[in-house]
Amino acid sequence: MKHSRTFGLIGRSLKHSFSEGYFTRKFEEEHITGCTYRLFELSDIKEFETLIKTVPLAGLNVTIPYKEQVMTYLHKLDISAEKVGAVNVIRFESNGQLTGFNSDYYGFKTSLENWLLHGNNGNQSISALILGTGGASKAVSVVLKDLEIPYKLVSRSATENTITYKDLNQNPELVRDTGLIINTTPLGMYPQVDEYPDLPYNVVGKNHFFYDLVYNPETTLFMEKGFSRGASVKNGLDMLHLQAEKSWEIWSQA
Ligand SMILES: NC(=O)c1ccc[n+]([C@@H]2O[C@H](COP(=O)([O-])OP(=O)(O)OC[C@H]3O[C@@H](n4cnc5c(N)ncnc54)[C@H](OP(=O)(O)O)[C@@H]3O)[C@@H](O)[C@H]2O)c1
Repeated sequence: MKHSRTFGLIGRSLKHSFSEGYFTRKFEEEHITGCTYRLFELSDIKEFETLIKTVPLAGLNVTIPYKEQVMTYLHKLDISAEKVGAVNVIRFESNGQLTGFNSDYYGFKTSLENWLLHGNNGNQSISALILGTGGASKAVSVVLKDLEIPYKLVSRSATENTITYKDLNQNPELVRDTGLIINTTPLGMYPQVDEYPDLPYNVVGKNHFFYDLVYNPETTLFMEKGFSRGASVKNGLDMLHLQAEKSWEIWSQA
């Protein structure tokens, strides 16, 4: 008989988690026996040590706000996690060691390549604006660096490395002349579906690509505004599924 394997997700508030349903369905549909996926809400990362001592785990996903904080508890980092500076997948090795990976990097890179680069003759001269500077923005910027796509970071506050939404509205050519616009902010995400990034949408045209990391709702106002001006648009669902499947692949290699 095969022994059972427990996987799960750690984060602070997991009420709207996608992962539990996704993996539970996957185990059923693909007849993967002896595996369960559970949610572990931690009010502080210090609870991580107790969790791994009391629950025999085979693998974990990590979400807000622990993707960076969890790194100090790990023995090794895969290159994906090292490059992004955040971990969203942990593999429990047979020797008891913990290795951290970043499957958001893989999910975003693969979905972008499939959508934009393969389908558009390489799109060699494209440049990008990344809206937001949080965790997802980090993974996105490392992918763009690796794909040699030049980009600017857009934030609500101006810093040495960022421009602001005000800058874009005062200089709309920055949007007009940038083909790829990626929303990594939570603007427009359920239940705040009436929100959208403050851009000069009137300069958007059919050569633009709008990629929204938000996946609920399937069509955000940001996407609608781009689409109505002729832009190609994409939501975060492919990335979400790709990063989940990558987690499974990582755990299966233990
Ligand atoms: N599809 C997927 O697989 C996938 C994977 C990861 C994340 N996501 C989605 O990506 C989004 C961001 O996730 P995250 O982990 O990066 O969150 P996060 O760390 O909280 O960062 C979001 C960033 O968005 C900006 N922001 C926040 N509130 C804003 C507001 N009211 N107006 C304008 N900008 C605002 C902030 O940047 P500034 O302070 O610089 O403005 C912030 O750092 C979420 O909707 C999440 O669901 C999707």
